[in-house]
Amino acid sequence: MFYDDPKKHNLRHNPFKALVAPRPIAWVSSMDLDGVPNLAPFSFFNAVADQPPTIVFAPNGPRPGGGAKDTLRNIEQTNEFVVNLCSWELRDAMNESSAHVDPKVDEFEMTGLTAAPSVHVKTPRVKEAPASLECRFITRMRLPSTNPKIENNMVIGEVIGIHIDDAIIDDGMIDMAAYHPLARLGYMDYTAVESTFEMLRPDGDKKT
Ligand SMILES: Cc1cc2nc3c(=O)[nH]c(=O)nc-3n(C[C@H](O)[C@H](O)[C@H](O)COP(=O)(O)O)c2cc1C
Repeated sequence: MFYDDPKKHNLRHNPFKALVAPRPIAWVSSMDLDGVPNLAPFSFFNAVADQPPTIVFAPNGPRPGGGAKDTLRNIEQTNEFVVNLCSWELRDAMNESSAHVDPKVDEFEMTGLTAAPSVHVKTPRVKEAPASLECRFITRMRLPSTNPKIENNMVIGEVIGIHIDDAIIDDGMIDMAAYHPLARLGYMDYTAVESTFEMLRPDGDKKT
């Protein structure tokens, strides 16, 4: 089949998100100007450069009742955020933190997670996360939208510090089995990394 018109197809849902899968989950902590922390997951997320390490994610609005999602508003006000990475073990807390709640609700408290101090940013990180990326806000791009009720945004951040749980480091490398990262598929489905294999590049065997 060929799909290009959301109105003309025999699929039960738009296949796009089920096909661009698995997507990692940016579990973003941010803070408002009064110091109230916020935590929410975003699976329109990835790494786009490594010198310096750079990430993008997409807080697409609006929040119920209108206006930008708390995450986007906070980042634009404070110029910083933390991308916490999510493991299978933290799936329920991650999901719970996606609830649309009042901006003054602290999702760390709501989910029972621990807000640990960061080094280069004021925004706390999730202590229980296997890793956290402290980020400096670079820019927000507005993306086209075909739905007048939805605003699409791309936030770009530079990673300025990385916290790693020592339990997921083995012989100086990240042990993927111990890390057990969670990822989003289509519909309401998820996966977690259960196995890996190695494949060397044809023009060199550098493990970077
Ligand atoms: C696994 C998962 C992935 C999500 N990915 C996105 C996303 O990429 N972009 C988005 O705007 N919302 C996404 N959401 C919904 C947000 O987490 C949700 O709107 C949240 O309440 C936003 O919180 P905030 O207003 O505190 O920023 C996702 C939710 C879940 C559970």
